Amino acid sequence: MLNVRESLGNAKDDPVKYDARQKTVIEPYRLLTTRSKFRGSLPPEHYYYGLPGRMLDKPSGGVQKECELMVLIESGLISPEQYRGAEIYPEIYEANVEVLKRMHPEYPVDQMLHFGDIIDVLASDAGKSNFRPALVNLDTQFEPPRAARLLGRTLNILNRVDAVEHPIVVVWNTILRNKRKAVDKRHEWKAVKEVFGADCMMQRSLLLDGKGRSTTGWKQVRKEVVEYWRDEEGTRFTLMGTIVFVRRGEAIKDA
Ligand SMILES: C[S@@+](CC[C@H](N)C(=O)[O-])C[C@H]1O[C@@H](n2cnc3c(N)ncnc32)[C@H](O)[C@@H]1O
Repeated sequence: MLNVRESLGNAKDDPVKYDARQKTVIEPYRLLTTRSKFRGSLPPEHYYYGLPGRMLDKPSGGVQKECELMVLIESGLISPEQYRGAEIYPEIYEANVEVLKRMHPEYPVDQMLHFGDIIDVLASDAGKSNFRPALVNLDTQFEPPRAARLLGRTLNILNRVDAVEHPIVVVWNTILRNKRKAVDKRHEWKAVKEVFGADCMMQRSLLLDGKGRSTTGWKQVRKEVVEYWRDEEGTRFTLMGTIVFVRRGEAIKDA
């Protein structure tokens, strides 16, 4: 288990949050694509879809050195033009666009950052000829039912994509424990699996058989538990669980 001591959006110089991204995104992608000739990077002209969160480092006015985008670029997993980030809050989106354009005028920022729901961004890109998602990172902080709804819709779009030459990898997070003063909400993995079985989009996307296996080809390959946030006294904290999904194979035409 990893300990992530800083709160969301405040990841600057936070080695533990950095480790969490390595463990839940970068390492799993590389492990799943060891035979790729692109050696630990997304294939050229293939894309990463994610939720960048806050990128502005308020004290310096620059880009947070350890925000998702910078870590992925520095790791060599992607180049800037392979990044597609969606943000639902206008203030966060606008601040991200402003700081990235100012600090990195060489980046195609308008192609990299998108305002709105990631499902709308994926659905809109899915209609274009260059829709080649290789890695989708649904890094939200939702309880299992809401997180599963987002996952089901995402997989449903990705089912229509050809993944013969390169697999599609999806990293999915959910809250497993949310401890506050008055509440202590826990979700066991077993309950998370039950949510998958109950959500209509998950049912449609995974087409689970009687044993809970996906007949549309999605395999669940890794599960990490990350302590995402803890207050100073250590009495309030959030525990996140991560599952990595991978699908290889032809597009499912009637998905
Ligand atoms: C946990 S943060 C992302 C943190 C970031 N990935 C990192 O590693 O530092 C999630 C962000 O996604 C945004 N968000 C949540 N649901 C979204 C959705 N469906 N579409 C677009 N943005 C969303 C939130 O407003 C928030 O800024």
